[in-house]
Amino acid sequence: MLPIGLLMIEHRLIERMLKLLEVEISDSRSGKAIDMIFFEAAIDFLSSYADRCHHGKEEDVLFRDLDKKEISGSHREIMQSLVTEHIYGRKILNSLVEAKERYLDGENSGLMGIIKFAEEMINFYPKHIEKEDRHFFIPIMEYFTKEEKNKMIDEFFKFDQALIHEKYKGIVESWENRKK
Ligand SMILES: [Fe+2]
Ligand SMILES: [Fe+2]
Repeated sequence: MLPIGLLMIEHRLIERMLKLLEVEISDSRSGKAIDMIFFEAAIDFLSSYADRCHHGKEEDVLFRDLDKKEISGSHREIMQSLVTEHIYGRKILNSLVEAKERYLDGENSGLMGIIKFAEEMINFYPKHIEKEDRHFFIPIMEYFTKEEKNKMIDEFFKFDQALIHEKYKGIVESWENRKK
């Protein structure tokens, strides 16, 4: 197994969640009330899994190691564009969370915001994933030795392992603050 194999498996799960979100948003466009329990789960997925866990491993392990290599100008350009796209994805996610808060507060702009930013996310993500899967991940593996690739897999596992503790510690702390 290559480190990018693990990232590609994560891409498939992200696509499945985007598909669910697409159905939910298209239903709400036709007047159906948004299922907020699903929507909260989708936001948690996009934040904890797609951004923190998946983009985290890409940026903090794969891109970090690639940055130390002598890579072609075009590969460097794609890497920089991917980082910029991660920042853009975070921006959409923040807007989506803000729209959700407005919706829960009963503001009219909340629902339109949810639809707008969810659609932006649904349009943005597949193109980003395609760029990585089809034009970047496979060629850049050539820059790494077998040992370096194995080390990267180990680091991916450690990264994931630390996240579960970070996530639940965060949940306890945020509830401690709310219950004060
Ligand atoms: Fe990415
Ligand atoms: Fe990715």
